[in-house]
Amino acid sequence: MRRLLSSLAAICLALVAAPAYAEEIDATGLYNRNCGVCHGVDRLGKLGPALLPQNLKRLRKKRAHDVIKNGRPATQMAAFGEELNDDEISAIVEYIFTPLKDVPRWGEKEMDATRNIAIEVDKYIKAPLYKADPLNLFVVVETGDHHVSILNGDTFEVIHRFKSRFALHGGPKFTPDGRYVFFGSRDGWVTKFDLYTLEILAEIRAGINTRNIAISPDGSSIAVANYLPHSLVILNSTDFSVEQIYDVKSTDGESSRVSAVYQAPKRNSFIAALKDVPEIWELQLDKGAKLRRIKIDEPLDDFFFDDGYKHLLGSSRDGQNAVVIDIDAGASIARIGLPGLPHLGSGISWDYKGRQVMATPHLKEGKVSVIDLADWSILKTIETKGPGFFMRGHEKSPYVWTDVFFGPNKDVLHIIDTRTLEIVKTIKPAPGKTAAHVEFDKDGSHAIVSIWEKDGAIVIYDAKTLEEVKRIPMSKPSGKYNVWNKITFSRGTSH
Ligand code: HEC
Repeated sequence: MRRLLSSLAAICLALVAAPAYAEEIDATGLYNRNCGVCHGVDRLGKLGPALLPQNLKRLRKKRAHDVIKNGRPATQMAAFGEELNDDEISAIVEYIFTPLKDVPRWGEKEMDATRNIAIEVDKYIKAPLYKADPLNLFVVVETGDHHVSILNGDTFEVIHRFKSRFALHGGPKFTPDGRYVFFGSRDGWVTKFDLYTLEILAEIRAGINTRNIAISPDGSSIAVANYLPHSLVILNSTDFSVEQIYDVKSTDGESSRVSAVYQAPKRNSFIAALKDVPEIWELQLDKGAKLRRIKIDEPLDDFFFDDGYKHLLGSSRDGQNAVVIDIDAGASIARIGLPGLPHLGSGISWDYKGRQVMATPHLKEGKVSVIDLADWSILKTIETKGPGFFMRGHEKSPYVWTDVFFGPNKDVLHIIDTRTLEIVKTIKPAPGKTAAHVEFDKDGSHAIVSIWEKDGAIVIYDAKTLEEVKRIPMSKPSGKYNVWNKITFSRGTSH
């Protein structure tokens, strides 16, 4: 009797449990069967990109759902709307937006396994294999379809276009002679490209989620700033051998993401911004990459350096202040009240009435702040038509250009006269479409604007008359970089 009762209970339990079990979606199983082959069952990416919350931050859940249901046209990402219902897709979206239980190890062994080196054809070639001034090329990053275009800066013709890694992040970095350029991707791939032979020479995966890369002043090494794992990686720029992996931790042992790494040419060092702990790191290359920790009051982000690399300005966490750090003293010496989240990393400098000034757009307010670099006072606040992202100028042009990246006026750009600090012209290159990121050519005679859309373009302006010269269709040209302005550390561009 007793046995009968207990088996009855077991049956009842099974009856109650069964429907609930049937409804529960096995997201991991669905993912592994449908997606693992391209994105990796570990979600670290293979042929398709890594699917981790850190990497998908910009995409967001709603758009991820849409991509899975409808696919991405003209890519290997197919539509799953037929095979999977909405609930199943939602479960997969939750799954890919869940952090990994354990951050995988990404050490020298793992990096070595990803390295790819081309035959060193570049060694025997001493001049460009095309007719154009190699120092006036533009490297245009097209994030719409993950390509890079190489533009002749004299004729404004595209001389080459190639597929990049998925989602390049941060600006490309050039060797001092301007011949080689390095790219970092969201998923940690670092690519070396030869601007003479127009060939990819080397690749390595130096992280799982990467913020940006920097090149040492002599061009011999590349630093990689990672969010996942918490590391700063130094690579040899010739053969991509791993020179050093810093497991990023504060003196107290607290682990931190690396927000960004910068080259400080006049100090011969790399400087890294740490996201989660109140320290700035300087790797002093003269001293064999000796690590110097600068202790600060709170973590700072998004650095601007003055011309001598004696000071840096960093954004405070509350988005209301820029903190000035005297790098040699290793101390904060001033705090500039800049409400509206200044985008210091886009800051540029010029001379105004005998003083050195820097200007920064703000990501949350429609204004450009002009700061006197002698005493850190705000010289002027220029009202704009909305929050901005980038600014650019050139030593040979009296104008600086700034975009209005956010809000209803995202299609306009302001042109500011550096002599009067007044907006002299507002242009609208493509009504309704985001206009952003300006870059000058080598001699400052032209400014190129991006129409930041999938069916976008670059628009070339005469930098004196401010009239349009030419327009070339491109796929979300998120940034363009002139070799000369980068290798000479033009004050009109951020580095
Ligand atoms: C045949 C290979 C392949 C399969 C199978 C595949 N994907 Fe993809 N997926 C890709 C590629 C390639 C991309 C990059 C497309 C592009 O260039 O925009 C991508 C992009 C994505 C993106 C956008 C990532 C971003 O950051 O923009 C998501 C999300 C995604 N896939 C999820 C999935 C899920 C979930 C599955 C399974 C249901 C799946 N994919 C199956 C190849 C694949």
